[in-house]
Amino acid sequence: MTGTTVLLLDAAGPESAALARAAAARGHQVHAATAAERPAPAPNLAGRVVTDFARPDRAVEDITAYARRRGVEAVLTANEYLTETAALVCAELGLPGNDPHLAHAARDKAAMASVLTAAGVHVPCTRLVHDDAELHDALTDPVVGSPCVIKPIGGAGSAGVTVVTSPAQAAAAADTAREARSRYDRGATGVLVQAYAAGAEYSVESVTQEGVTTHLAVTRKAVTGGVRRVETGHSLPARVPPATETALHRQVGAAIRAVGIRHGASHTEVVIAPDGRCTVLEIAARLGAGHIGILLQHALGIDIFAALVDVALGRPAALAPTAHGHATVRFVTAPCAGRLTSVAGFPKPGPGVPFVRWRAAIGSPVKAAGVNADRLGAFVVTGPDAAEVEQRAELLARQIHVRVDAATPELCEPDQLNSASRPDIAP
Ligand SMILES: Nc1ncnc2c1ncn2[C@@H]1O[C@H](COP(=O)(O)OP(=O)(O)OP(=O)(O)O)[C@@H](O)[C@H]1O
Ligand SMILES: [Mg+2]
Repeated sequence: MTGTTVLLLDAAGPESAALARAAAARGHQVHAATAAERPAPAPNLAGRVVTDFARPDRAVEDITAYARRRGVEAVLTANEYLTETAALVCAELGLPGNDPHLAHAARDKAAMASVLTAAGVHVPCTRLVHDDAELHDALTDPVVGSPCVIKPIGGAGSAGVTVVTSPAQAAAAADTAREARSRYDRGATGVLVQAYAAGAEYSVESVTQEGVTTHLAVTRKAVTGGVRRVETGHSLPARVPPATETALHRQVGAAIRAVGIRHGASHTEVVIAPDGRCTVLEIAARLGAGHIGILLQHALGIDIFAALVDVALGRPAALAPTAHGHATVRFVTAPCAGRLTSVAGFPKPGPGVPFVRWRAAIGSPVKAAGVNADRLGAFVVTGPDAAEVEQRAELLARQIHVRVDAATPELCEPDQLNSASRPDIAP
């Protein structure tokens, strides 16, 4: 059963590249739909169609026409911004995909809050505001409370998200959220004001096939504090008390159904309060980014990329763990904004360190972490024992020295060494 044709929407990110590799390794012909400004990494692509994803109707037409010509049998994406387009294309072509009528609710966080609330999922109170009067109204709403979070409607990677602790910060935070709108959701108007959910951050990685969901793992996250929140580490599988896990799976299952995920991955971000109460921050109809796919592979032996290709083809996917280890990814961030002058001690791949990725060139401008895209690099540590893996990751992180010629030296840590990426992720 090889030789089928698979189409990826966007093939440029690491998860997309891994999907392309997995599909090619299974003998499939891999094609991609790409934006002109984001060319696909060419190696294993059999062909591509260039389209403008910012014009979704047009993109769906271009992609379905191309897919029909090429006899495409599966369409999938790892790109957060394209999950609705993927659902619409699958529906047009009659391929396994998510509910095209609900798919926008996994992209538009205002619609998401409505459908999740209606489905009985606990979410932070979310207000959509369009002007200063509505912003003021939301800030004084006792259900929103303080602190609160101001964010774009359809953002990703923490872009434009601000934790606001005083009303004086709100107008600037709303501007930041507005400016962060991506080229894919220019149509969205307004920004969101959301109640702050206090607690520890987790995500649940799930795969749904024919409407039946398998929860693969719970992931513990480390996130920077302060006004801008950036994920600095993920670890899985995270252990939570059985009652909490049951509640978590119930909430996440309801969220998956509510946003119409029927065939494919989902990544649901959740805050667990000290009393065990779960709040769903958001759900995405795609595999978790931040190398979570690699963690699943190394900790649990699940080839998630191959599995997702099978799911998209409507074939049974191998989702059962074949290993029972632990894996963590740590992200390296700059101590302050400036020009990157040197990096020392960044780990090399080897036993127990299956993956490393450095993105920032020496001499290039860097920023202190404000959004996920500011992260400079990442490394994965894996092994059979959770505590040992976390300790090793901790040790490796401490050996990394990032030096920056600071734009504003007083904002830099005294020794200009990297201090982030040392998250406290309890196994
Ligand atoms: N309502 C909230 N309560 C508490 N923290 C929040 C809330 N909303 C956002 N945050 C914090 O801000 C981070 C980024 O927010 P959010 O996940 O909504 O943005 P995003 O752009 O979708 O990011 P990503 O794509 O990385 O998931 C969260 O991981 C969390 O740390
Ligand atoms: Mg998020």
